[in-house]
Amino acid sequence: MSKVLITRAVPERFLEDLRQTAEVTVYPEELKPMTREQFLDESKDKTVVITMLSDRVDQEFMDHCPELKAVINLAVGYDNIDLDYAAAKGIIVCNTPDVLTETTAELAFTLMLVTARRIIEAAQMVQDGRWIGWAPYLMAGQDVYGKTVGIYGMGAIGRAFARRCSGFGMTILYHNRSRQEAAESELGVKYADFDELITTSDYVVCTAPLTAETAGKFNKDVFSRMKEDAIFINIGRGGHVIEEDLLHAVQHREILAAGLDVLAEEPINKDHSFLAEPNIVVLPHIGSASVETRDAMIQLCVDNARRIINGEQPLTPVKM
Ligand code: DGY
Repeated sequence: MSKVLITRAVPERFLEDLRQTAEVTVYPEELKPMTREQFLDESKDKTVVITMLSDRVDQEFMDHCPELKAVINLAVGYDNIDLDYAAAKGIIVCNTPDVLTETTAELAFTLMLVTARRIIEAAQMVQDGRWIGWAPYLMAGQDVYGKTVGIYGMGAIGRAFARRCSGFGMTILYHNRSRQEAAESELGVKYADFDELITTSDYVVCTAPLTAETAGKFNKDVFSRMKEDAIFINIGRGGHVIEEDLLHAVQHREILAAGLDVLAEEPINKDHSFLAEPNIVVLPHIGSASVETRDAMIQLCVDNARRIINGEQPLTPVKM
Protein backbone atom coordinates (compact mmCIF):
# COMPACT_ATOMS: atom_id res chain seq x y z
CA MET A 1 0.00 0.00 0.00
CA SER A 2 1.24 3.52 -0.82
CA LYS A 3 2.26 5.64 2.11
CA VAL A 4 1.38 9.31 2.46
CA LEU A 5 2.71 11.81 4.98
CA ILE A 6 0.99 15.12 5.69
CA THR A 7 3.40 17.38 7.55
CA ARG A 8 0.83 19.32 9.58
CA ALA A 9 -2.49 18.45 11.21
CA VAL A 10 -5.47 18.69 8.84
CA PRO A 11 -9.11 17.82 9.57
CA GLU A 12 -9.76 14.09 9.39
CA ARG A 13 -12.84 14.64 7.18
CA PHE A 14 -10.54 15.30 4.20
CA LEU A 15 -8.77 11.97 4.57
CA GLU A 16 -11.54 9.36 4.46
CA ASP A 17 -11.20 8.58 0.73
CA LEU A 18 -7.43 8.76 0.73
CA ARG A 19 -7.29 6.24 3.59
CA GLN A 20 -9.06 3.69 1.31
CA THR A 21 -6.04 3.64 -1.00
CA ALA A 22 -3.09 4.63 1.16
CA GLU A 23 -1.65 4.44 4.61
CA VAL A 24 -1.81 8.04 5.75
CA THR A 25 0.36 9.54 8.50
CA VAL A 26 -0.54 13.01 9.73
CA TYR A 27 1.90 15.00 11.84
CA PRO A 28 -0.33 15.92 14.78
CA GLU A 29 0.82 19.50 15.39
CA GLU A 30 -1.40 22.26 14.01
CA LEU A 31 0.94 25.20 14.45
CA LYS A 32 4.40 23.84 15.03
CA PRO A 33 6.39 22.69 11.98
CA MET A 34 8.20 19.38 11.99
CA THR A 35 11.87 19.67 12.80
CA ARG A 36 14.19 18.85 9.92
CA GLU A 37 15.03 15.52 11.60
CA GLN A 38 11.35 14.61 11.98
CA PHE A 39 10.66 15.62 8.39
CA LEU A 40 13.50 13.45 7.06
CA ASP A 41 12.72 10.57 9.34
CA GLU A 42 8.95 10.49 8.81
CA SER A 43 9.27 10.84 5.01
CA LYS A 44 11.86 8.19 4.30
CA ASP A 45 9.45 5.39 3.33
CA LYS A 46 6.66 7.59 1.89
CA THR A 47 5.31 7.53 -1.66
CA VAL A 48 3.70 10.96 -1.44
CA VAL A 49 4.43 13.79 0.96
CA ILE A 50 2.02 16.70 1.39
CA THR A 51 4.27 19.57 2.46
CA MET A 52 3.86 23.05 3.88
CA LEU A 53 5.82 26.01 2.52
CA SER A 54 8.04 25.82 5.60
CA ASP A 55 9.28 22.32 4.66
CA ARG A 56 12.51 22.44 2.66
CA VAL A 57 12.34 19.87 -0.13
CA ASP A 58 15.93 19.84 -1.33
CA GLN A 59 18.42 17.31 -2.69
CA GLU A 60 19.15 15.89 0.75
CA PHE A 61 15.44 15.31 1.35
CA MET A 62 14.75 13.75 -2.05
CA ASP A 63 17.82 11.49 -1.83
CA HIS A 64 16.65 10.41 1.61
CA CYS A 65 13.25 9.21 0.28
CA PRO A 66 13.79 6.41 -2.26
CA GLU A 67 10.04 5.66 -2.60
CA LEU A 68 9.03 9.27 -3.18
CA LYS A 69 6.80 9.74 -6.24
CA ALA A 70 5.32 13.14 -5.49
CA VAL A 71 5.58 16.23 -3.34
CA ILE A 72 2.35 18.17 -3.00
CA ASN A 73 2.74 21.65 -1.56
CA LEU A 74 -0.14 23.20 0.37
CA ALA A 75 0.55 26.59 -1.26
CA VAL A 76 0.60 28.15 -4.69
CA GLY A 77 4.28 29.10 -4.22
CA TYR A 78 6.87 26.32 -4.37
CA ASP A 79 10.16 28.11 -3.81
CA ASN A 80 10.74 25.70 -0.90
CA ILE A 81 11.12 22.88 -3.44
CA ASP A 82 14.16 22.25 -5.64
CA LEU A 83 12.21 21.78 -8.88
CA ASP A 84 15.22 20.96 -11.04
CA TYR A 85 16.28 18.19 -8.74
CA ALA A 86 12.72 16.86 -8.49
CA ALA A 87 12.50 16.84 -12.30
CA ALA A 88 15.85 15.04 -12.55
CA LYS A 89 14.59 12.37 -10.14
CA GLY A 90 11.19 12.11 -11.85
CA ILE A 91 9.37 13.31 -8.73
CA ILE A 92 6.04 15.02 -9.47
CA VAL A 93 5.48 18.38 -7.77
CA CYS A 94 1.97 19.80 -7.28
CA ASN A 95 0.77 23.09 -5.79
CA THR A 96 -2.60 24.70 -5.07
CA PRO A 97 -3.21 27.42 -7.67
CA ASP A 98 -6.58 29.11 -8.39
CA VAL A 99 -8.40 28.05 -5.22
CA LEU A 100 -6.54 30.70 -3.18
CA THR A 101 -6.42 33.53 -5.70
CA GLU A 102 -9.30 35.69 -4.46
CA THR A 103 -8.53 35.16 -0.77
CA THR A 104 -4.88 36.10 -1.23
CA ALA A 105 -5.75 39.16 -3.31
CA GLU A 106 -8.20 40.15 -0.58
CA LEU A 107 -5.43 39.95 2.03
CA ALA A 108 -3.14 42.06 -0.17
CA PHE A 109 -5.85 44.68 -0.47
CA THR A 110 -6.56 44.53 3.26
CA LEU A 111 -2.88 44.98 4.04
CA MET A 112 -2.71 47.99 1.74
CA LEU A 113 -5.72 49.62 3.46
CA VAL A 114 -4.54 48.71 6.96
CA THR A 115 -1.06 50.12 6.34
CA ALA A 116 -2.27 53.25 4.57
CA ARG A 117 -4.87 54.05 7.25
CA ARG A 118 -2.67 53.07 10.22
CA ILE A 119 -5.30 50.66 11.49
CA ILE A 120 -3.02 48.52 13.68
CA GLU A 121 -1.46 51.57 15.35
CA ALA A 122 -4.86 53.16 15.87
CA ALA A 123 -6.43 50.05 17.39
CA GLN A 124 -3.36 49.61 19.60
CA MET A 125 -3.69 53.19 20.83
CA VAL A 126 -7.27 52.56 21.94
CA GLN A 127 -6.33 49.25 23.53
CA ASP A 128 -3.48 50.89 25.45
CA GLY A 129 -5.83 53.56 26.85
CA ARG A 130 -3.92 56.33 25.02
CA TRP A 131 -7.02 57.73 23.22
CA ILE A 132 -7.74 61.07 24.83
CA GLY A 133 -10.08 62.59 22.29
CA TRP A 134 -10.83 63.42 18.69
CA ALA A 135 -8.16 65.51 16.94
CA PRO A 136 -7.91 66.75 13.35
CA TYR A 137 -4.86 64.67 12.49
CA LEU A 138 -5.28 61.87 15.00
CA MET A 139 -3.93 58.73 13.28
CA ALA A 140 -4.29 60.42 9.91
CA GLY A 141 -3.09 58.07 7.19
CA GLN A 142 -3.02 58.16 3.39
CA ASP A 143 -5.90 57.75 0.98
CA VAL A 144 -5.96 54.69 -1.21
CA TYR A 145 -8.85 55.84 -3.38
CA GLY A 146 -7.69 57.54 -6.60
CA LYS A 147 -3.97 56.82 -6.10
CA THR A 148 -1.57 54.98 -8.39
CA VAL A 149 -0.77 51.38 -7.58
CA GLY A 150 2.12 49.48 -9.15
CA ILE A 151 1.68 45.72 -9.11
CA TYR A 152 4.86 43.68 -9.42
CA GLY A 153 3.79 40.29 -10.76
CA MET A 154 0.62 40.08 -12.87
CA GLY A 155 -0.34 36.45 -12.36
CA ALA A 156 -3.75 35.33 -11.14
CA ILE A 157 -3.33 37.01 -7.74
CA GLY A 158 -2.02 40.23 -9.33
CA ARG A 159 -5.08 40.33 -11.59
CA ALA A 160 -7.51 39.65 -8.73
CA PHE A 161 -5.80 42.41 -6.75
CA ALA A 162 -6.05 44.78 -9.74
CA ARG A 163 -9.82 44.19 -9.93
CA ARG A 164 -10.13 45.34 -6.34
CA CYS A 165 -8.00 48.41 -7.07
CA SER A 166 -10.22 49.46 -9.95
CA GLY A 167 -13.16 49.56 -7.52
CA PHE A 168 -11.17 52.20 -5.64
CA GLY A 169 -10.65 54.35 -8.74
CA MET A 170 -6.92 53.69 -8.76
CA THR A 171 -4.58 54.08 -11.72
CA ILE A 172 -3.11 50.61 -12.07
CA LEU A 173 0.38 49.94 -13.40
CA TYR A 174 1.95 46.52 -13.53
CA HIS A 175 5.31 44.98 -14.22
CA ASN A 176 5.65 41.36 -15.16
CA ARG A 177 8.25 39.33 -17.03
CA SER A 178 5.81 39.12 -19.96
CA ARG A 179 3.15 41.62 -21.10
CA GLN A 180 -0.37 40.58 -20.10
CA GLU A 181 -2.46 41.97 -22.97
CA ALA A 182 -5.66 40.27 -21.80
CA ALA A 183 -5.35 41.92 -18.38
CA GLU A 184 -4.65 45.26 -20.05
CA SER A 185 -7.84 45.16 -22.06
CA GLU A 186 -10.03 43.50 -19.43
CA LEU A 187 -8.86 45.41 -16.37
CA GLY A 188 -7.50 48.63 -17.81
CA VAL A 189 -4.08 48.03 -16.26
CA LYS A 190 -1.04 49.58 -17.94
CA TYR A 191 2.33 47.91 -18.40
CA ALA A 192 5.24 49.86 -16.93
CA ASP A 193 8.92 49.09 -16.93
CA PHE A 194 10.26 48.40 -13.46
CA ASP A 195 11.74 51.85 -13.10
CA GLU A 196 8.48 53.61 -13.99
CA LEU A 197 6.57 51.28 -11.66
CA ILE A 198 8.66 52.06 -8.61
CA THR A 199 9.11 55.77 -9.23
CA THR A 200 5.51 56.69 -10.04
CA SER A 201 3.43 54.43 -7.79
CA ASP A 202 1.96 55.52 -4.47
CA TYR A 203 1.59 51.86 -3.57
CA VAL A 204 4.06 49.26 -4.81
CA VAL A 205 2.61 45.81 -4.30
CA CYS A 206 4.63 42.65 -4.79
CA THR A 207 2.54 39.59 -5.68
CA ALA A 208 5.24 37.77 -7.66
CA PRO A 209 6.52 34.26 -7.05
CA LEU A 210 10.09 34.07 -5.79
CA THR A 211 12.62 33.02 -8.42
CA ALA A 212 16.36 33.50 -8.91
CA GLU A 213 15.47 36.56 -11.04
CA THR A 214 13.31 38.25 -8.42
CA ALA A 215 15.30 37.43 -5.25
CA GLY A 216 16.51 40.63 -3.58
CA LYS A 217 14.79 42.78 -6.23
CA PHE A 218 13.57 45.32 -3.65
CA ASN A 219 16.83 46.73 -2.37
CA LYS A 220 18.35 50.01 -1.18
CA ASP A 221 18.53 51.46 -4.66
CA VAL A 222 14.90 50.60 -5.43
CA PHE A 223 13.54 51.94 -2.14
CA SER A 224 15.53 55.16 -2.54
CA ARG A 225 13.89 55.77 -5.92
CA MET A 226 10.32 55.26 -4.69
CA LYS A 227 8.16 58.26 -3.81
CA GLU A 228 8.64 59.65 -0.30
CA ASP A 229 5.04 58.80 0.56
CA ALA A 230 5.12 55.42 -1.14
CA ILE A 231 3.87 52.37 0.72
CA PHE A 232 5.42 48.99 -0.07
CA ILE A 233 3.26 45.88 0.28
CA ASN A 234 4.60 42.34 -0.02
CA ILE A 235 2.43 39.25 -0.16
CA GLY A 236 4.77 37.31 -2.48
CA ARG A 237 7.77 36.00 -0.59
CA GLY A 238 10.17 37.63 1.84
CA GLY A 239 13.11 36.72 -0.39
CA HIS A 240 12.13 39.49 -2.83
CA VAL A 241 13.25 42.06 -0.28
CA ILE A 242 16.58 43.02 1.28
CA GLU A 243 15.02 43.58 4.66
CA GLU A 244 17.72 45.80 6.15
CA ASP A 245 17.32 48.10 3.13
CA LEU A 246 13.58 48.26 3.67
CA LEU A 247 14.04 49.06 7.35
CA HIS A 248 16.54 51.78 6.48
CA ALA A 249 14.16 53.24 3.88
CA VAL A 250 11.27 53.45 6.36
CA GLN A 251 13.42 54.72 9.23
CA HIS A 252 15.01 57.41 7.04
CA ARG A 253 11.66 58.34 5.52
CA GLU A 254 12.69 57.40 1.97
CA ILE A 255 9.30 55.70 1.83
CA LEU A 256 6.35 56.10 4.17
CA ALA A 257 5.48 52.60 5.26
CA ALA A 258 5.44 48.89 4.51
CA GLY A 259 2.91 46.10 4.94
CA LEU A 260 4.40 42.62 4.89
CA ASP A 261 2.65 39.26 4.96
CA VAL A 262 5.87 37.41 4.16
CA LEU A 263 9.41 37.60 5.52
CA ALA A 264 12.78 36.23 4.56
CA GLU A 265 12.88 34.06 7.70
CA GLU A 266 9.55 32.94 9.11
CA PRO A 267 8.55 33.21 11.88
CA ILE A 268 10.31 36.29 13.23
CA ASN A 269 10.63 36.81 16.97
CA LYS A 270 9.32 39.74 18.96
CA ASP A 271 12.71 41.45 18.97
CA HIS A 272 12.82 41.82 15.18
CA SER A 273 13.56 45.44 14.24
CA PHE A 274 10.48 45.63 11.98
CA LEU A 275 8.25 45.30 15.02
CA ALA A 276 9.64 48.43 16.64
CA GLU A 277 8.55 50.48 13.62
CA PRO A 278 4.95 51.73 13.76
CA ASN A 279 5.07 52.25 9.99
CA ILE A 280 5.78 48.60 9.28
CA VAL A 281 2.85 46.22 9.58
CA VAL A 282 3.81 42.56 9.76
CA LEU A 283 1.35 39.69 9.39
CA PRO A 284 2.16 36.01 9.97
CA HIS A 285 1.93 34.81 6.33
CA ILE A 286 -1.86 34.53 6.21
CA GLY A 287 -2.42 35.39 2.53
CA SER A 288 -4.68 32.43 1.81
CA ALA A 289 -5.90 31.94 5.36
CA SER A 290 -9.67 31.86 5.17
CA VAL A 291 -11.35 28.67 6.36
CA GLU A 292 -13.05 28.20 2.98
CA THR A 293 -9.82 28.57 1.05
CA ARG A 294 -7.72 26.44 3.37
CA ASP A 295 -10.43 23.73 3.10
CA ALA A 296 -10.21 23.96 -0.70
CA MET A 297 -6.40 23.84 -0.65
CA ILE A 298 -6.34 20.75 1.58
CA GLN A 299 -8.98 19.04 -0.57
CA LEU A 300 -6.95 19.78 -3.70
CA CYS A 301 -3.78 18.35 -2.15
CA VAL A 302 -5.61 15.20 -1.09
CA ASP A 303 -7.23 14.82 -4.54
CA ASN A 304 -3.81 15.18 -6.17
CA ALA A 305 -2.37 12.54 -3.84
CA ARG A 306 -5.21 10.10 -4.55
CA ARG A 307 -4.86 10.53 -8.30
CA ILE A 308 -1.11 10.03 -8.24
CA ILE A 309 -1.45 6.90 -6.12
CA ASN A 310 -4.08 5.56 -8.56
CA GLY A 311 -1.77 6.22 -11.51
CA GLU A 312 -3.89 9.12 -12.82
CA GLN A 313 -2.76 12.60 -13.85
CA PRO A 314 -2.69 15.00 -10.90
CA LEU A 315 -5.00 18.01 -11.15
CA THR A 316 -2.41 20.73 -10.54
CA PRO A 317 1.11 19.60 -11.38
CA VAL A 318 3.81 22.28 -11.45
CA LYS A 319 5.32 22.57 -14.94
CA MET A 320 8.97 21.50 -14.77
C1 DGY B 1 1.06 30.52 -1.04
O1 DGY B 1 0.14 29.70 -1.17
O2 DGY B 1 2.11 30.43 -1.67
C2 DGY B 1 0.80 31.66 -0.11
O3 DGY B 1 1.95 32.33 0.22
C3 DGY B 1 0.06 31.16 1.11
O4 DGY B 1 -0.50 32.21 1.82
